[in-house]
Amino acid sequence: MDLGIAGRKAIVCASSKGLGRACAAALAAAGCEVIVNGRNRDAVETAAADIRKATGAKVTAVAADVASPDGQKALLSACPQPDILINNNAGPPFRDFRELTRAQIIDGVIANMAVAIELTQKVIDPMIAKKFGRIVNITSGTVKAPLFGLDLSSGARAGLTAFMAGVARSVAGANVTINFLQPGAFATDRLQSNMEMIATKRGISIDEAKKERTATIPAKRFGNPDEFGAACAFLCSAHSGYITGQNLLIDGGAFPGAF
Ligand SMILES: NC(=O)c1ccc[n+]([C@@H]2O[C@H](COP(=O)([O-])OP(=O)(O)OC[C@H]3O[C@@H](n4cnc5c(N)ncnc54)[C@H](OP(=O)(O)O)[C@@H]3O)[C@@H](O)[C@H]2O)c1
Repeated sequence: MDLGIAGRKAIVCASSKGLGRACAAALAAAGCEVIVNGRNRDAVETAAADIRKATGAKVTAVAADVASPDGQKALLSACPQPDILINNNAGPPFRDFRELTRAQIIDGVIANMAVAIELTQKVIDPMIAKKFGRIVNITSGTVKAPLFGLDLSSGARAGLTAFMAGVARSVAGANVTINFLQPGAFATDRLQSNMEMIATKRGISIDEAKKERTATIPAKRFGNPDEFGAACAFLCSAHSGYITGQNLLIDGGAFPGAF
């Protein structure tokens, strides 16, 4: 399918690795000009070079912390009026909520809620003027099925989801859509480090930890980031202008409900 977005400009936050990178690669394959981002300069430049080589697209590396005002400035000066914005950032580590300090709670809300709102504020009016805009927020399956230990992540992302649900309806008439991708378990570095932590905690091997986890997923495997990137590119496509304010759970069937 031709996604109809060749030549569109996309900022993909936190995209030198993992799900963000897969989204950047899928958008580049669809012909978009893409900004790839991460804090580690070598990693972000390598990712940009790899995606450029694989797709022939114009790919610009921006080494910056998306959570900081300077980082956001760097992203927007590389691409002042994006047609597409993918909001992504690192999630907080597993922690018993009793241990969270006030500062950590506020940092979590900034990282997984405020940053996406701030970037949306900065890009949305030119999108409305152009009558084309696609904003996709990478949240988590834990918004739908919260997990003890990831409470700060679930809470901040659920807050973002509710916040943006209202905003989405206010801009839909200008062909600007705002949607949410909720990943289940995808094979990325973050998942690998979660598996390592669980293996150490329980005194089992990493392979055993992975086997136990995949056994709980109806698809019997972890998701491939490319599958996630393809879903993201579709939500950014010319064909998805009538889909807005929606949450797409991509979890291999792990969530057991019909809705
Ligand atoms: N993978 C899963 O199974 C899964 C499931 C549910 C939710 N999620 C959520 O999905 C998001 C992406 O996860 P992932 O698995 O793709 O993670 P990942 O493989 O660890 O990749 C994270 C990416 O974000 C970049 N990054 C982190 N903090 C940043 C910052 N402050 N500014 C700019 N870039 C930053 C990292 O580069 P640098 O470190 O160099 O900055 C890296 O490129 C996270 O919020 C995660 O909680 C993932």
